[in-house]
Amino acid sequence: MEIITNVTEGVIKKAAKALKDGHLVAFPTETVYGLGADATNEMAVGRIYSVKGRPADHPLIVHISSINQINKWAVDIPEYALKLARDFWPGPMTLILKRSELAKNFITGGQDNVGLRVPNQPVALALLSEFESLGGQGVAAPSANRFGAVSPTTSLAVSEEVGNHLVPNDLILSGGRCNIGVESTIIDCTSSIPTILRPGAITLEMVEKLIGTKIGTNVLTSPIKASGLLAKHYSPKAKVILNVLAKSGEGFIAMASIQTPTGAHRLASPANIQEFARDLYEALRNGDRMNLSEIKIILPEGVGLVDAINDRLSKSSF
Ligand code: TXA
Ligand code: MG
Repeated sequence: MEIITNVTEGVIKKAAKALKDGHLVAFPTETVYGLGADATNEMAVGRIYSVKGRPADHPLIVHISSINQINKWAVDIPEYALKLARDFWPGPMTLILKRSELAKNFITGGQDNVGLRVPNQPVALALLSEFESLGGQGVAAPSANRFGAVSPTTSLAVSEEVGNHLVPNDLILSGGRCNIGVESTIIDCTSSIPTILRPGAITLEMVEKLIGTKIGTNVLTSPIKASGLLAKHYSPKAKVILNVLAKSGEGFIAMASIQTPTGAHRLASPANIQEFARDLYEALRNGDRMNLSEIKIILPEGVGLVDAINDRLSKSSF
């Protein structure tokens, strides 16, 4: 496994070819790093599951270079979903749509639908375009962490998570720290009204405003399986406890306006909600790198990314 920090055009060509040849390529997106494989290659996709230690019935998101590829993977696309795609792609949003024949059971976990996303990150977009120009159809990519662990937002975190499980022909492409820092909003578009299955940077308010109707977020009533919907997920090794001040020797994450309790290890002091989301996973990881046993986090208040942060942290503290 090779980590490539200077991602030139030549590197993109090499990485796209590696994907085409059935190898794994971890790459940056604006949300978190993904662990990519050719979404039509069952063997390559199978390796994603073994590298992550993820149960085989959990579906994967297929990443495509633009909305123009949507009809390859999905059929019977509702008008509101096209509207969402036109407005928010490339961007931190995954649409769950009725699958085409291209989306096999090994991608969808045996479900009749498929998750699609166009990421908004230059390395990711260049890789996807180059892969498509080699005849590729799409790149399956879950977050590049071991199952149940914290998603990586740096290439170092990718290698810490899965480096030991990768083999010499696999690649890790570096693209700096992810801008958004929490995973994409997942929107179920298989009914007449969309439902948010996982909150993210594309918020309920943004979706409602664009499509002009009230929508649901009731994850529990959704028949769709999503591993991020398990009660426990996104967990560091340290125990995460919410809305309690840290004691001496414990980790502490809170907005910059909240003082560090005496003797606590301050892991992040974000000035606003965007910074909170961007810095959160690396802060949790730093707590683990320091071998802390507990991390206390004061949840931020407000709108926007707050829902996504609270969703992930309630699962990491479960
Ligand atoms: O921001 C993101 O979405 C990142 C980057 C790499 O794109 N990817 C990501 O993938 O978070 P993953 O696999 O770690 O989380 C995707 C979630 C999982 O809980 C999966 O079960 C769910 O999306 N999912 C994928 N396809 C689905 C489908 N067809 N139906 C329902 N849930 C689906
Ligand atoms: Mg994940």
